[in-house]
Amino acid sequence: MPGWGGTQRLPRLVGLAPGLDMILTGRSANARRAVSLGLADEIVPSELLLEAAEKLVMDAAEGRRRPRRRLPDSTLARLNPVHLARLALASQFARRGLRKRVAEVHYPAPYRALEAVLHGLRHGMAEGLLREAELLGPLAASRTSKNLVSIFLMQRAARRDPGVDDPAVRPKDVRAAAVIGAGVMGGGIAQALARSGVGVRLKDIDPRALSRGIRHAHDLYQEEVRKGRLSRRERDQKAALIQPTLEYTGLRRSDVVIEAVVESLAVKHKVLREVEAVVPEGFIFATNTSSLPIEAIGKEARRPEDVVGLHFFNPVHKMPLVEVIKGPRTSQEAVATAVALAKRTGKTPIVVGDAPGFLVNRILMTYLGESLVIIEEGGRIDEIDRVMLDFGMPMGPLALLDQIGIDVANHVAGVLSEAFRDRAPRSTALQILKDKGWLGRKTGRGFYIHPDGPDDGGADDGGGPGGGRPAARRRTSRSEGPPRDVNEAVYALISARPREHVDAGPTETRLVLPMINEAARCLEAGVVANPSHVDLAMVLGTGFPPFRGGLLRHADTLGLTAVVQGLEALAGRHGPRFLATRLLLEMAREGRAFFEKE
Ligand code: NAI
Repeated sequence: MPGWGGTQRLPRLVGLAPGLDMILTGRSANARRAVSLGLADEIVPSELLLEAAEKLVMDAAEGRRRPRRRLPDSTLARLNPVHLARLALASQFARRGLRKRVAEVHYPAPYRALEAVLHGLRHGMAEGLLREAELLGPLAASRTSKNLVSIFLMQRAARRDPGVDDPAVRPKDVRAAAVIGAGVMGGGIAQALARSGVGVRLKDIDPRALSRGIRHAHDLYQEEVRKGRLSRRERDQKAALIQPTLEYTGLRRSDVVIEAVVESLAVKHKVLREVEAVVPEGFIFATNTSSLPIEAIGKEARRPEDVVGLHFFNPVHKMPLVEVIKGPRTSQEAVATAVALAKRTGKTPIVVGDAPGFLVNRILMTYLGESLVIIEEGGRIDEIDRVMLDFGMPMGPLALLDQIGIDVANHVAGVLSEAFRDRAPRSTALQILKDKGWLGRKTGRGFYIHPDGPDDGGADDGGGPGGGRPAARRRTSRSEGPPRDVNEAVYALISARPREHVDAGPTETRLVLPMINEAARCLEAGVVANPSHVDLAMVLGTGFPPFRGGLLRHADTLGLTAVVQGLEALAGRHGPRFLATRLLLEMAREGRAFFEKE
């Protein structure tokens, strides 16, 4: 909420519709647009700034220039019926747009900001400022505000964190990089690197994959030109930084080689050997694997200490998180280099340990797996999703499974249930849907029917066994809203009999508490350094509702005693997979919390 007068001054300066657009979305304007809106006076070269500013002030002081205002400071009501009609229309329009984007119960601030703007326009600037102050106070002191600020601070801290404890360790200076595998992930990673000015050699064995990768990168740059973020010249310069190849040529100078070939240990080892044959020692080998242990990949390396995990999420250009995975033999320098490179591409890196599912997919799969068990017990697909949408997730677990791809999710679920046998939710639903060929959005049918077919926008990846995705998956457009029609045939296929209703409260508890439990296990096992990293990774990697401050902050809000009691009750009802882990039990017993209490 732009307090301190922002809700009053901005609409008067730029007009109601553009003002509301900025206030209610937080969108900013570049210099050129700021001038055309009336928000800035002029654009001048920085050397002339002082001179131009002096002239402007003098012109204003001597009456040659009048301050621009699109709306008057006084009450509109007394002034002009046309203004009034416009005001009513604009406010209706803004409220409708707002309701589509954010729920008032979760994010009250833009609703209050709208109220302050309208109040000021109806009753004059002075009244408006008072109203703004009245509305701002409770917002500023609210839990939502504290949670959102804490996420902002965690993200800033993560962007400054070098990822290693020893300050003497420096990241390698990366001037040139190579990406092996130009599929969904490799193409995206090459684009992200080139976007940040790193020259990239992009290698694949399939010429079609290479040309698709290059086209995809070009489309993304073009989109930025359209939005005014890049000039045509910059687009061409950046596009020229990616050089495709089918041979191992032009890789000699690579400081970092990132592999994003299919998810097979044998293929990854083959690529590692081929790279070692052409690139002189001293490069970092980063793997984008989503489920293979870094240790297993590094075992065949000449220098296992140079092998590190660099797990981007799908789609790369949209997802802000990168997990940097430190294998047991990975060097500090390799970790520092991966962290620095991820930051350079504008992502937020979190360093995690080399354990099955790493961090985000491991926590997420407990939740996705449990949602499947609930369907098998008679829960309705859309109702389960609705419960989690109301909780604040950007999409429900079943819609998310469709987005990730049922085959990909099934693969990751397999890896995790192999690793955590008794604890993993047991469901055969994914395997059955996969065998049927209902792979989710990419095949037009999964738990939902997707009339618009494939789309790669937005969601977390959940992993990826690779396996040649069709070109159509590269579409960068994002279809509107959640899928509407449940694929009713799923129930019969997995022998489930849907009941009328799932109970919202217990369902939410049953889906959220296991994530908290799993996150606590990750902390216990040292997979992740601290609760802030868990929370940031969950918010950035899965869209866990930011207004809740993150998964473990949410656990604190519930109270760890309540969390443990909830898990015990669930274990009694549904089995020992819900039993609270040692860390949670201890913390609850000692009355501790993950974060210091404010
Ligand atoms: P993809 O199937 O789209 O791309 C793999 C590419 O590797 C293909 O273009 C293929 O021609 C190429 N390739 C195969 N063998 C090769 C070789 N020997 N040399 C050079 N290129 C070769 O797969 P995708 O989805 O991009 O996945 C790649 C990696 O990223 C996998 O390890 C996957 O687990 C991981 N990952 C995938 C995510 C996803 O959502 N798709 C998310 C995060 C990680």
